[in-house]
Amino acid sequence: MKKTEKITLAFDVYGTLINTHGVLVLLESMIGEKANVFSNLWREKQLEYSFRKGLMDAYEHFGLCTAQALDYADAFLQTNLSASQKQTLLNQYKILPAFDDVIAGLDNIDKERFNLYAFSNGLYDSVNQLLEQAKISQHFDGVVSVDPLKTFKPNPKVYQYFLDQSNSQAKQTWLISSNNFDVLGALNYGLNSVWVKRSAQQVFDFWSKSPTLTLDDLTDLGSNIIQYTEQS
Ligand code: 2OP
Repeated sequence: MKKTEKITLAFDVYGTLINTHGVLVLLESMIGEKANVFSNLWREKQLEYSFRKGLMDAYEHFGLCTAQALDYADAFLQTNLSASQKQTLLNQYKILPAFDDVIAGLDNIDKERFNLYAFSNGLYDSVNQLLEQAKISQHFDGVVSVDPLKTFKPNPKVYQYFLDQSNSQAKQTWLISSNNFDVLGALNYGLNSVWVKRSAQQVFDFWSKSPTLTLDDLTDLGSNIIQYTEQS
């Protein structure tokens, strides 16, 4: 790759830039020690619903998957949340925090070398609101939501849509994600991908493809990608 050619970075949002377990303190105040299990189940079901609705070709937006997954977790764990408690949790979900390493990581990226996008299953307005609340929106050249396609990651169509919207080629594009299914979805479509493995307990799927790079956090993301592209 020529040094002057810009690299496009597609940042996954929920679980990569934004901490979906930022509801934990609020959950603890409502349901005590079940909060951790609840938060994990809520997130797992939210993603499962997006996969199933995508496969069924019966799209309903990500916010609805989130609300339906909340109802499921509440019923499954018998936590008896009231309608107003659920609404409070869903409101909190709109202002979730960024992970601690995100601001430094974005600050450290040389914007002369990279174009930065947020690329999410979430609705455009929800993603914009999250990035603004987390005070990181100024770093991005744009937000790409899968919503106009009426399907979700990891459908190959959404990665092509991202390339179209960002005017990028697959080979010069990197998907940055903590979500295995997103990393594999991008690799499957010929993009490069960084798997952000913030915890030692995270395990990558034993499929035929591996992340182009694996990093503990986003702090040195830009320099790691430049080093990789200069060596290859
Ligand atoms: C996102 O932001 C999958 O939650 C992930 O697209």
